[in-house]
Amino acid sequence: MISAAGITKRAIRSHYDLATPFYRLLWGPHIHHGLWDDADSVLAPRDAQVRLTDTLADLGRLRPGDRVLDVGCGMGGSAIHLASSRGCHVTGVTLSGLQRRWAGTAAWWQGVAAMTEFRRTDVETEAFAPESFDVVWSIECTEHLADKPRFFEHVASWLRPGGRVAICAWLAAEDAAASPDKRSQVEQVCEAFLCPSLGSFSDYRGWMERAGLIVDGTHDWTDRVARTWELCESRVRALGIHRLAPWIDPAQALFIDHFSTLLGAYRSGAMQYGCFVAHRPSRAAG
Ligand SMILES: C[S@@+](CC[C@H](N)C(=O)[O-])C[C@H]1O[C@@H](n2cnc3c(N)ncnc32)[C@H](O)[C@@H]1O
Repeated sequence: MISAAGITKRAIRSHYDLATPFYRLLWGPHIHHGLWDDADSVLAPRDAQVRLTDTLADLGRLRPGDRVLDVGCGMGGSAIHLASSRGCHVTGVTLSGLQRRWAGTAAWWQGVAAMTEFRRTDVETEAFAPESFDVVWSIECTEHLADKPRFFEHVASWLRPGGRVAICAWLAAEDAAASPDKRSQVEQVCEAFLCPSLGSFSDYRGWMERAGLIVDGTHDWTDRVARTWELCESRVRALGIHRLAPWIDPAQALFIDHFSTLLGAYRSGAMQYGCFVAHRPSRAAG
């Protein structure tokens, strides 16, 4: 795991309170990478984001009636999609008050208000009832968590026996800590994108296993998602967001300036993009 000091919840909350309208403009309702098949795919970015959501939902075997906790729900992109396309009942949590209101309004507008609930809360201090979810789902939020091993202990307790975990996350490469160049690239990403740390594939596997979860599969999607940042960079320039952002908040400008840092970290092998599916053993299995 590679860490960056001094990243506070207040900074993360304020980033999402301020940057959410930019994300909406740039990416649409989902704040995460798209998933393409290969470099030649003509899939539009919005469709590639839905592809990532659907692929994770298939791997996590999400079914009608599942009670899903969406950790880091953003504008409700996943929650609304899972409710409307798969019949899931989703509780979404976000640090941002703006995102909570946005997600609630979007769910009402799309006719799934009764199947969704959104809370502004820190998942690291939240006490959900034990065994109250069938699935814990998270796309690109665990990067922001301060104590990832403890988070997975909580996840295991919130899941019913047999319940599943479906997660996508930005990762530090296994060898990044030992290479000064790669480590520095990952540290720059942590600072610009407000991640207190980035774990590797083996870190995540270890945290889940130590929490008593069984890891069913891991997928390296780095090459299939990296194009997201090329498209972001060109859209930011085309829409003039790079000129607007510094006037609103210099931190937003830092974030935008580092799109190429992230792309460079994928290309150099300093970072990876990972998908994880896991489950809590049923009682019979011990
Ligand atoms: C990159 S966005 C991803 C949003 C959403 N999963 C999506 O794919 O559209 C990260 C999200 O994590 C949330 N987040 C970060 N730290 C959190 C925490 N400690 N508790 C709850 N949510 C958190 C942010 O508020 C934001 O909604």
